[in-house]
Amino acid sequence: MTADIRHFTSTQADEIRPTLLEVYAEVYADDIASDPFNGVERFSSGLNGWSSRPGWTCVVGYDGDQVVGYAYGAPLPANARWWGGLLDEVPDDVVSETGTRTYALSELMVRVPWRKTGTAHQLHDALFAEQSEERATLLVRQSHPKVRALYEAWGWKVLGDLRPRIPDAPLFHAMLLDLPQG
Ligand SMILES: CC(C)(COP(=O)(O)OP(=O)(O)OC[C@H]1O[C@@H](n2cnc3c(N)ncnc32)[C@H](O)[C@@H]1OP(=O)(O)O)[C@@H](O)C(=O)NCCC(=O)NCCS
Repeated sequence: MTADIRHFTSTQADEIRPTLLEVYAEVYADDIASDPFNGVERFSSGLNGWSSRPGWTCVVGYDGDQVVGYAYGAPLPANARWWGGLLDEVPDDVVSETGTRTYALSELMVRVPWRKTGTAHQLHDALFAEQSEERATLLVRQSHPKVRALYEAWGWKVLGDLRPRIPDAPLFHAMLLDLPQG
């Protein structure tokens, strides 16, 4: 199945926010019930923060009038806090940001009926097709090896272990992907 993709930027964040929250609450229902890190309020304030960042972009997939999933992120600013929780030693230039070097994929989620249909990969590629950064980064929970494997199948590579410096944060793999336009 091929989803219809709509693109959103910060100026349209108010319009799309209720949809993003609704899909989050559905996709993460089990995690929301069991893990404070996944709470809807925390996600909602995170969404507000991300969507007001310069360069925030979001793609939402539709199957007819039904939302199937979405992805969003934004470029890392110079001296990004993103890398502050990195637990592995890497050369300084690997984590040096300019504001235009690295796009951070913050969220990618697909509603259950549209899993294993290629929709997730389509959303992923549609998001990056519009970006001009040289590379992208994301964090995947170490407790979700199948999701990590999925990203590796899409070309991502693990840089190292990372635990964000925020309360209740789990341990993540920090991953990197070279973007073709970079
Ligand atoms: C990640 C996602 C977009 C991938 O969609 P997809 O390409 O259709 O792939 P699948 O849903 O089949 O996921 C691949 C495997 O990862 C597993 N997986 C996906 N999300 C998972 C999660 N949050 N926790 C644990 N395992 C997960 C799936 O069960 C599947 O395993 P299987 O092959 O044994 O069935 C979709 O699974 C999803 O929305 N997951 C919930 C949100 C999420 O975890 N996003 C990624 C954050 S880094």
